[in-house]
This record gives sequence, C-alpha cells and structure tokens, in this order.
Amino acid sequence: MDEGVMKTYARADEVFVDGFGAVLRDRDGRQFLDCLAGIAVSGLGHAHPALVEALRDQVGKIVHLSNLFRHPYTEDVATRLCRHTGMAAAFFTNSGTEAIECALKLARKAMHVRGTPARTAFVAVEGGFHGRSLGALSLTWSEKYRKPFQPLQAVTWVKPDDVEGLAQALRQQQAAAFVVEPIQGEGGIRELSPAFLRAARELCDETGTLLVHDEIQSGCGRTGRFLAAQHHDVTPDVVTLAKPIAAGLPMGVCLTTSAFADTFQKGEHGSTFAGGPLVCRAAQVFLDELDHGLLGNVGERGAEFRAGLEQLGRALPIVREVRGRGLLLGLRLHHSAEAAQKALYRQGLIVNCTAGDVLRIVPPFVITKAQVQDALACLRNVLAALPAPTEAQKEKS
Ligand SMILES: Cc1ncc(COP(=O)(O)O)c(C=O)c1O
Repeated sequence: MDEGVMKTYARADEVFVDGFGAVLRDRDGRQFLDCLAGIAVSGLGHAHPALVEALRDQVGKIVHLSNLFRHPYTEDVATRLCRHTGMAAAFFTNSGTEAIECALKLARKAMHVRGTPARTAFVAVEGGFHGRSLGALSLTWSEKYRKPFQPLQAVTWVKPDDVEGLAQALRQQQAAAFVVEPIQGEGGIRELSPAFLRAARELCDETGTLLVHDEIQSGCGRTGRFLAAQHHDVTPDVVTLAKPIAAGLPMGVCLTTSAFADTFQKGEHGSTFAGGPLVCRAAQVFLDELDHGLLGNVGERGAEFRAGLEQLGRALPIVREVRGRGLLLGLRLHHSAEAAQKALYRQGLIVNCTAGDVLRIVPPFVITKAQVQDALACLRNVLAALPAPTEAQKEKS
C-alpha cells in the first residue's frame, strides 16, 4: 500500500469505488454514510444525476482551453458568485490554498497601488487554517504544520474574539490584510463572535487594512446562508471560496469588491488550469441546485442534526460541547476524538477528527432526513460505548 506515493496522509485501508447521494461504497460492497464529504467538498453528494449529465456533455466538447481564450461559462459562474457574495469580481483558482495566495497578493498589490508598499504584514487568528503553500501556511496557526518549513512570512497573531488585541495589532502593524475564517474549520468548528467580526470590519476600515474572509470551509451555503458572515451582516473586502463550489471538481475563487476589482493588471496573476469549462459546468450545476432549494435542505437538516447532537450532549458525559451551524457541525468531546472517529468508521459512519477533541460533521448538502437520524443513532451507540471521561480529563478539557 502507498507504493510510489509520498507519505503525507494516514489513509484508511478501504478502497472506495462508487457512491450515491450521501452514501459511499467500497469494493467489497460495504456501504458507508459519508458525513465528511471529502472534507466539506461533495455538496451534491456522489453521482448526482445533473452533475453527471453536465460533465459527460462537457467532456465530449472541450475539457481544457486556458485563460487565453473564452468559453461560455466563466462570466456566468463569476457573476452568480458575485451576486451571492456581494462582491464585484472573481479570480478562479484550482484550490482553496491558491485562492488564499491570490487574496494575499491582491492585498500586497493594493498597498502598492495606494502608495504604501511598506505595508506588507499580515494579521491572522490563532487556531486558523488557510492552506499549505508558503504564503497560506504562514497564516496557518498549527505549529505542527508550520515548524518544518520555517522561516515563513511574518504574521501577527491575535486570539479569537480578542477585539482589543486585534485593534492593537492593526493599529501598530499597518498591515496589508487581516485574514480570518468566520467559523474556524480545522480549528475545531469554532465560530468567531459576531461582535469580533463586526469590530474587525470597523478596525480594518479605520486602519486601511483589507479584510479577507476565508470562507473556503464555511462558505458556498454550508451554514444555510451562502456565506457564514452573512448571518452577521458583515461584508469583507475579499472573500475566498473553494471546497463544494464545483461539486467535487477542483475549483477555488478569490472574490473582491468594486474598490479592488481592478487591482491586478494583465499578467500580474494567473493559472493554467483554473476556471476551465469542465469545472465551470460543475459549478453551474452546484449553483443551480443551491438556487432550487438545496440551501433550504442545508438549513433543515442542519437544524435536525444540531438538535440531535444537543440531545446527545445532554445524555452522554463524554460530550463537552456542540458547535457550528447548518451542516458545518462539531461535537467536542472531553478527550481525544480519535478513538470515537475510528469506532464510528468501523460502524459505517464517516466523520473526522479535528483540533484533537472535535468530531467534524460536514455531510453533503443532499443528506436526507432519514440519513441524519441514522448518523445520530450511530453516534449515540458508539459514544455511549466509549469510556466516560475521568474527572481529571473533564477538568483538563
Ligand atoms: C478555511 C480553509 N482555508 C483554506 C484551506 C485550503 O484549501 P485547499 O486544501 O483546497 O487548498 C482549507 C482546507 O481545508 C480550509 O478549510
């Protein structure tokens, strides 16, 4: 196993061959309920008929073109994303990390345009995750990810929800950008407070810092609104999206307001593959489905899931806290969530473990009412069978 592959992932042994909706099937025919969706990606689940049809059609026409030429879908996807986010222009990428890189370069270039090129610094939040390239990694909090690659870009860190700390950092640093996930995904499905997000908007305005919302995990409808920050009426200068946006095909996007839409000049940024016809067709299908009621399913199934998790929290001493909204949910335990994740997997429920003690639950947006109840029943059985936390573990957590 893993022959010829760099050893960067701890992978499960099963070999998955197909799926339908929120169900995955391995080559022995065993079915799993997929509440991870390829780490918050497969919003339409597996083998969605409209996606299959659109991709089959497009593969028979043009798969790749390059951004030197036009195809019919770029502007449609870009303008629909702008409409959903309140932004004015989009740059397509192939991943979340690249969308973050684009945002960082855009902020740096904006400072050049403004005549303040010395404003090169970035401010980010402890616990945040923004990707693994050298720029994005610089803004990623986890020591484990950062340490082997230092030195990285200098970043000033603020604590989640620390308005005073943020005010000080932005006023002292005269940074190019403040980058923040409205809900930290890898950081344990941790929602930042509306007060912090609103204060960040005001402080960025006061100090002339670009406010970048990383909604790569929280965006594209996963919380029941297109953007998580829309629950609090906060609009950033730049927003990054990826994960479910092309229903499982690789697409990211960096969007910005009209104030910064013309920041890059021709040739100042680019990508060979990004925004090609095949991924744009997939994004169209995803956006069509959102427009035709899928967002409603996220809200309803999310509320049912959350209510069920809260019930588990009341019944089971192992549960410390329920986190998140919509279908971006976390169940924080009193000790490491790894044993629980493995036991759930053995029972056919796929979730993962993030920030050490949190079970991350990010199912496809198409998950059904019955599947939510199945997942909750499996969680109840597995968690009830795990040893209850000791007093020492409770105190420590
Ligand atoms: C909030 C956030 N930003 C950035 C990234 C990086 O995205 P990608 O893995 O597509 O490069 C992720 C991935 O998990 C993420 O959750």
